[in-house]
Amino acid sequence: MTRKRRLGATDFETVPLVFGGNVFGWTADQATSFALLDRFVERGGSMIDTADVYSAWVAGHKGGESETIIGEWLRRSGKRDSVIIATKVGMLPGEGGDKLAPARIAAACDASLRRLGTDHIDVYFAHQDDPDTPQEAVLEAFGKLIDAGKVRVIGASNFHAARLKSALDLAREHGLPHYRVLQPEYNLVSRKKFEGELQDLCVDHNIAVTPYYGLASGFLTGKYRSEADTKQSVRGGGMANLIERKMGVIAAMDEVAAETGATLARIALAWLAAQPGVTAPIASATSIDQLDDLMGAIDLELSQDQLDRLTAAGA
Ligand SMILES: NC(=O)c1ccc[n+]([C@@H]2O[C@H](COP(=O)([O-])OP(=O)(O)OC[C@H]3O[C@@H](n4cnc5c(N)ncnc54)[C@H](OP(=O)(O)O)[C@@H]3O)[C@@H](O)[C@H]2O)c1
Repeated sequence: MTRKRRLGATDFETVPLVFGGNVFGWTADQATSFALLDRFVERGGSMIDTADVYSAWVAGHKGGESETIIGEWLRRSGKRDSVIIATKVGMLPGEGGDKLAPARIAAACDASLRRLGTDHIDVYFAHQDDPDTPQEAVLEAFGKLIDAGKVRVIGASNFHAARLKSALDLAREHGLPHYRVLQPEYNLVSRKKFEGELQDLCVDHNIAVTPYYGLASGFLTGKYRSEADTKQSVRGGGMANLIERKMGVIAAMDEVAAETGATLARIALAWLAAQPGVTAPIASATSIDQLDDLMGAIDLELSQDQLDRLTAAGA
């Protein structure tokens, strides 16, 4: 059985795969979403990632669709205590203002709790940095939610190293909550935003890292190899650039696939899970077959030589 990993300095544990919830109500309808969540938990998964803003980019949606589906699934399945719910504030303006304004954080948290049908959020992320609100005020706002029992721990997403560091320093100096989890964009074809200073900071401070776009929106499954392939999914639209620039990574992954018998999706996630500081990559699926494929990554261990070749191909 796969050993769970501790989420940095928190009490939570997860297998090295977090289910990405942006698909719920977007590319996975409610019935499919329920089936995916059932299967994820059945196969040992526990951590589910969403955000208040999912899926406001879809015509006719206003945000909150993903949380509402998760909330309904929690109610029907009775699984609230078996899962770790992570959601985010900071990209959906509304009551209290926008970004990380303290009044917005308070109002957005209550709205997320209502949609999720739960009395607490396990990991509450700042979805992006907010240069217009003093970091101390942001941490105080999160601290009030923790004190009220509405939030267990906080995380930061899309932060640069210097701003994460200053938030950690402020937290220490003023007795405010520390960001315990970082959610950066990071995968074999998107390396710059995380590797280097930010990765070092997370390792030094035992901050758990749950990278998003674990599959580069599907590119790292190997299903997009030509322009014709991009027509097969709603997500194919953004693939032309990757097909033009990053087929060398797919070629290196094909080699490792031939050696291990593993699919490219599994290889992409196993590579991520092996990087220093990374606790569990986030990825989503739109069918049970896809999810079963991804779940196979949690038991896949690549050799150091295979990891090195993939690292070099993606550099
Ligand atoms: N913090 C942030 O700013 C931020 C930003 C973006 C995402 N996220 C989080 O990260 C999660 C993951 O991102 P993502 O869902 O956008 O991208 P992803 O995990 O990189 O790609 C997932 C997509 O790839 C396809 N796929 C998955 N498994 C497959 C398989 N075995 N074979 C073929 N295709 C497969 C599916 O799309 P199709 O079936 O439609 O092709 C699936 O929805 C999100 O759900 C969200 O929770 C966070």
